[in-house]
Amino acid sequence: MSVIPVALGARAYDVVIEDGLIGRAGERLFSFARDGRLIVVTDANVWAALGERFVAGLGGLDAVPIVMAPGEASKSWVGLANLVDQLLVLGIERNDHLIAFGGGVIGDLAGFAAAIVNRGCGYVQVPTSLLAQVDSSVGGKTAINVAAGKNLVGAFHQPALVLIDPAATASLDPRHVRAGYAEIFKYALIEDVGFFEWLEAHGSAVIAGETAAREHAIATAVAGKAKVVAEDERETKGRRALLNLGHTFGHALEAATGFSDALFHGEAVAAGCALAFDFSAQRGLCSSEDAGRVRAHLVRVGLPAGLRDAGVSASGAELVAAMMTDKKKEGGRLPFILARGIGAAFVDKSVERAEVAEFLDRAG
Ligand code: GLY
Repeated sequence: MSVIPVALGARAYDVVIEDGLIGRAGERLFSFARDGRLIVVTDANVWAALGERFVAGLGGLDAVPIVMAPGEASKSWVGLANLVDQLLVLGIERNDHLIAFGGGVIGDLAGFAAAIVNRGCGYVQVPTSLLAQVDSSVGGKTAINVAAGKNLVGAFHQPALVLIDPAATASLDPRHVRAGYAEIFKYALIEDVGFFEWLEAHGSAVIAGETAAREHAIATAVAGKAKVVAEDERETKGRRALLNLGHTFGHALEAATGFSDALFHGEAVAAGCALAFDFSAQRGLCSSEDAGRVRAHLVRVGLPAGLRDAGVSASGAELVAAMMTDKKKEGGRLPFILARGIGAAFVDKSVERAEVAEFLDRAG
């Protein structure tokens, strides 16, 4: 078991990682129940796969599930209104905590509902996808998608606790597991070359779900994220922005594939990381050997390592135009997360659009 503190003063909380935790969550959730009752926001697929195990481990607490439709469509104004109305009908109070039990969509949606219902109540994250476990459940970013783009309406609202059960992802299909692995790999690339080397040796075991390897990888990625979030909770100091490595290129790839299941977010991040390293090498910032190692690892574990692998044939100009719809732009410019080597990412605000377009036109 690992317990990782997210050191945010009055908003501090723990991330508990333990195999089998979902089947014995009651003891951790007891203090969040009111009159023995927990409101659980979940989706139909997650509840069908894991609901029984979760309820059996609640030690007599009653779970009142609000079951949303699976998929991104629930992370919308309509889904939010529906959820908030149900929470109010159930009599949720400001001091209550709801339980977000599901993948990234449920975590983002339920977290945002918790940020606004009764002007804010508490919530606990129980992420059930690998991507949510290593990234979206930690750090308090909550959001819905709107017509203008993904995650454009939301709030920073920290959970009170995060419970991660690595075994919960056993029924995920391998493509979703690899997509989650991309976010683990991203942490290594940002500032942990030792973890990168460990992943080179053990990445396949992590993806295969070997217990010790999976737990170590999740704990290392979460500890990395917790440190960054504690230093720059609201992404205003240039530190948390590092977590966007691969995301600016990745956003363009997702846009080029219509934000569809043709390319999962984690897959776009993987290809985006490879492009960020190739671009850094082209600018003479990092060695082409490092960029090659990044690409080779992605290929070895079955993740896309460039435009072709991601199924993208758009021109550089089209991809750069798509990047400009990213919410991370500042004064009309996009900060890029580039690297001086593996484990040495930094924010570069000096990149010109034309240079990126020209790079993408030649990138594979
Ligand atoms: N997923 C990036 C962040 O939480 O800041």
